[in-house]
This record gives sequence, C-alpha cells and structure tokens, in this order.
Amino acid sequence: MNTVCEIQGEIQSLKKEKDICILAHSYQGREIIEAADFTGDSYKLSVDASKVTNKNIVFCGVHFMAETAKMLSPQKHVYLANMEAGCPMAEQMEPEMIEMIKAQDPERKVVAYINTTAALKTLSDVCVTSSSAVKIVSAMEDKKILFIPDCNLGAYVQKACPDKDIRLLQGGCPVHAAVDINDLKQAKAKHPDALVLVHPECQPAVSEMADYVGSTSGIMNFAKRSDAKEFIIGTEMSIAEHLQYECPDKDFYILSKKILCPNMKLTTLMDVYRICKAIGSEQAKANEIIMSDELISQAGKCIDEMLRLG
Ligand code: 13P
Ligand code: SF4
Repeated sequence: MNTVCEIQGEIQSLKKEKDICILAHSYQGREIIEAADFTGDSYKLSVDASKVTNKNIVFCGVHFMAETAKMLSPQKHVYLANMEAGCPMAEQMEPEMIEMIKAQDPERKVVAYINTTAALKTLSDVCVTSSSAVKIVSAMEDKKILFIPDCNLGAYVQKACPDKDIRLLQGGCPVHAAVDINDLKQAKAKHPDALVLVHPECQPAVSEMADYVGSTSGIMNFAKRSDAKEFIIGTEMSIAEHLQYECPDKDFYILSKKILCPNMKLTTLMDVYRICKAIGSEQAKANEIIMSDELISQAGKCIDEMLRLG
C-alpha cells in the first residue's frame, strides 16, 4: 500500500468494518477531503456531527472542532486524527478573565466564537461560527454583548448589527489577521479583474476592501455561483486549491502566502489511516476526545443555542 488512492481505499474499508464517519474541515488537504464523508466549514460540520449515526467519528481539523463534535454526539467515540492540531485562537483567553468581566458587567451576554475551548464555552450564552455570527447576534434580544475571542469577526458583526453594543477584546486568528491592506493591494495589482473574497477573521481594513466577506463555505459557494472568472481568495490557501480543482474554468489566486494555517496542515492522510486502523484497540485512546458529562452538559448548552438560533 503506497499510493494516495490505495491508502484512501484502505480507509474506505476500515470505515465500513469499524462503523466510522470522517468529518474534515475544508482547510484540510485534497487527499483527506476525498476520504471524508462530510466536509465544510465549522458550522456545517457541527450540524453534520449532530446527525451522524455511526459509532465512531474521526475528525480531521483542529482540537476545538473534535470537542464540539463530542458535545453534539456524547454517546459516540470521537477521535482527532492528529492530536497536535490545536487552534491558537481557541486558547487565547483565560476563563478567569471572562469571569471577571462578567462579574463587572453582568448584563452583557457572552457570545463565543466556536473557536474556543470547552472551558470558555461554559461561560458563554451562545456560540457562533463565522457563517452564523451575524444571524445569531441579530436574533438575540439582548443589546449588550461581549464577543470573544476574535475582535476582527466581532468588528464585522458590530458593523452588520449597528443597534448592538458589542464589547471586543484583543484576540483573533493569527493566520487571517497577518494579512494586511498592502497584501491586498499587491494581489489586486497583479489580478485587477479578480473579485476579492475574504474571511471575516481578516483585519477590518482588508474586509472593507473586499467584494465579498463570508465563512469558508460562504466563500466557496460565492465563487462557484458567480459569473466572474477570477478570484483572489482571502482565507486559508487550501480553499483556492479546492476551488481551482472544482471550477477548472475559473482562476483562483491566494491573497497572500501568509494565509497558511500550520495547525490545519498537521493532519496527513496517514494519520487518518492510522487512527481508523487503531479504533477498537488501546492505541486509539491517545486520540480520543474525553470530556466529563458535566463539561459536556455545561459547555454544550451554548452549542445547542447556536444550532437553535442559527
Ligand atoms: P469557518 O470554518 O467558520 O469558516 O472558520 C474558519 C476557521 O478559521 C476555522 O478554524
Ligand atoms: Fe485557528 Fe486560524 Fe488556524 Fe482556523 S485558521 S484553526 S482560526 S489559527
């Protein structure tokens, strides 16, 4: 067994034999996307995870995503294909700091981006993803909101919901936030006819110059449906590659080489094969997401609220 196709074939057999469902975030490489049962952005994968009927879930993405899948399907065994894959943004804020702000300003509802640890979710009233944040915040009766941890996404939500009073803290995705207005000007100078599609985790100055701002799935759907032929993609660079593969008659350019998430790139097809093979043995335990019933019930409430409002 040595070619990509052969490994993918082995994974398919293991999935059937061991009742495994593979969920992969769209930032994963093509060979993993092809082996997965469900792919998409954080919101879509949360909805998919809540509906999976298999006994075992293998998640290809980062730790908070597998944790979310576990909260949505607590009776299932959930494994993260590569346990080193974390999201630096998810761990940016200490729960103690949020507790302190809540105590000072108890009226303010806490809206947590899904890219947070379960401990932070226990302190939050509702969770959002990049595709559902505006919809959920608009639907909330409360005016005063503390939005954690991504201040760029929070600023984007504030702009879309001017009647809300959104307090932001300094935090965000180091990958998307690294792109600045000069990168955008350079990309535009090279491809003047291309539409610019960016993720709301980018700096507000970058989002303001874009033709479209949306989640990973939002960007992909926009590009597929658009009549335009050229696009500058302002999100993780794998998306430009997937779109190029899916829409060969169009041209996709990356906004900057800086938008490469090293954590999302940690998972390899061999990791997926290894965990599928190990499921059912002691070895798989090292990759299993284990959470107490109490943590699942406390942190899961804001995920359920997200699915209700989103
Ligand atoms: P979405 O999946 O909501 O687009 O978020 C992108 C991201 O950075 C995931 O870690
Ligand atoms: Fe976290 Fe940003 Fe990577 Fe997404 S792209 S996993 S938010 S560091």
